[in-house]
Amino acid sequence: KPVVLSGCQPSGELTIGNYLGAIKQWVNMQTSHNCYYMLVDQHAITVRPEPEALRNATLDGLALYLACGVDPEQSTIFIQSHVPEHAQLSWVLNCYTQMGELNRMTQYKDKSKKSEANMNSGLFTYPVLMAADILLYRANEVPVGDDQKQHLELARDIATRFNNLYGDIFIVPEPHIPEHGARIMSLQDPLKKMSKSDTNPGNFIGLLEEPKKIIKKIKRAVTDSDEQARIYFDVAEKPGVSNLLSLLSCSTGQSVADLVPQYEDKMYGHLKGDVADAVVAMLEPIQQRFHQYREDRAFMEQVMRSGAEKASERASKVLTSVYDAVGFITKP
Ligand code: AQP
Repeated sequence: KPVVLSGCQPSGELTIGNYLGAIKQWVNMQTSHNCYYMLVDQHAITVRPEPEALRNATLDGLALYLACGVDPEQSTIFIQSHVPEHAQLSWVLNCYTQMGELNRMTQYKDKSKKSEANMNSGLFTYPVLMAADILLYRANEVPVGDDQKQHLELARDIATRFNNLYGDIFIVPEPHIPEHGARIMSLQDPLKKMSKSDTNPGNFIGLLEEPKKIIKKIKRAVTDSDEQARIYFDVAEKPGVSNLLSLLSCSTGQSVADLVPQYEDKMYGHLKGDVADAVVAMLEPIQQRFHQYREDRAFMEQVMRSGAEKASERASKVLTSVYDAVGFITKP
């Protein structure tokens, strides 16, 4: 089976963007692929969160993976910091990545603008750790939202460079970007993507939010000043309305093409009401299951323990061949 690797950062409550762009695809790939899904807590410390907040977000994230249908019987689910090979490979790959390559990463540019007070080198080398995450498992496919395409391209470049020097150590991974939901946009500013760490909570919908709040946020979502309030899909002309149509399509399973004619004579308010209902219905069963998992500490620990063990087993083999390739002496 082809190998799949993906993860989310516990840098806040996971959003419907994380779900529709990534986790939903993970669930669909579980039977056809050998899947590794992690919570990347080492990535999350680039913005130096409160330790207690990070711990909670990591456990919430794990319970959410399970609640969304990621199955520990089928997939390997683990916490990144439980598998030390990620940090170990990351150091090696740092020495095979050019400063210029990292300078071109747009996420780094965006994030460094937001956090001028804490411009640590972890933010800069974040894509190298991400490359290590992927290459460590010899993953063939990486399901990601659109925003991670550039980082994946870098992982491919690093893998190719390393293989050219030392032989076929790494698999050059392919991105797996969903046709719909790859880029869920912010509710108040539909020109930027929805992000869990956005400082304005009106911009995102967390997977654990109460229905009342979700409805309110969608009702307040920015549309446009088209006097006739026409509803059609055009990201350039109507980013807000298009985002609402995408959300409705992803959460109901109906295509945008099928949805648009249904709104021919309707107002933006109708569309918003339907989006809100659909998002609430999509999240309801996830929220119910979340609470069951989150309170079952023994089960969560069992998932983490066996996930880390299985992940380490595969990762340690690749790390050994990398260490050997670069000339480290095997530990006697
Ligand atoms: N808005 C989005 N639409 C579709 N997919 C998205 N993803 C993130 N936002 C959207 C996908 O979710 C996966 C996990 O992302 P991450 O947690 O590793 O980090 P991120 O991409 O930086 O996500 P956020 O929510 O924006 O986090 P913060 O605010 O902490 O930076 C990835 O596959 C991503 O593509």
